[in-house]
Amino acid sequence: MVFGNIGSWAAQLITKAGGKVVSIRDVTGAVKNSNGIDIAKLKKHSAENRGIKGFDGGDAVDPTSLLTEECDVLIPAALGGVINKDNADAIKAKYIIEAVNHPTDTEVDEILAKKGVLILPDIMANSGGVMVSCFEWVQNIQGFMWDEEKVNRELKTYMTHASNIVLNI
Ligand SMILES: NC(=O)c1ccc[n+]([C@@H]2O[C@H](COP(=O)([O-])OP(=O)(O)OC[C@H]3O[C@@H](n4cnc5c(N)ncnc54)[C@H](O)[C@@H]3O)[C@@H](O)[C@H]2O)c1
Repeated sequence: MVFGNIGSWAAQLITKAGGKVVSIRDVTGAVKNSNGIDIAKLKKHSAENRGIKGFDGGDAVDPTSLLTEECDVLIPAALGGVINKDNADAIKAKYIIEAVNHPTDTEVDEILAKKGVLILPDIMANSGGVMVSCFEWVQNIQGFMWDEEKVNRELKTYMTHASNIVLNI
């Protein structure tokens, strides 16, 4: 996972839901901790040091190794095209969540499918933020502010509907 805006929120939500984030990178470096990275501590370190380099809550590792680490879920959250013909064969994750737009080259779809890797496509994985921006526009037009519970409820309704359409393609 990459620790920017999207990645750090994903890490916080995964941790809150009981998941374990084992390795994270950003443009400054990469950290790995098989027992799970303390996300709150990393967020503080990252804010104070402009990146995760130097974080003492895990081992500093080669950032390029992260995409091909042993893990259940791989979350590319920085750049497009990072999963490509040069590394697709070595991917060990069972699931890829495309938090960034187009991280997986179309030419490797077949390789990943043969390996049994399930991909949650970017159009599903990262459209929630755009949808909430649309809700902000709707609230502005109405001149009426929704509470967080309503925002989350509406988001769930639209995302569930969209997911069902995609799953039935
Ligand atoms: N924020 C959104 O609502 C949103 C929605 C959909 C798509 N996106 C896309 O997702 C991407 C990430 O968005 P964000 O808001 O998290 O951005 P961000 O700037 O907060 O985070 C980007 C992260 O990528 C890292 N990074 C940059 N270059 C890198 C490299 N070469 N190697 C490793 N790490 C690198 C940076 O260190 C940073 O941690 C963007 O491409 C954006 O266009 C964002």
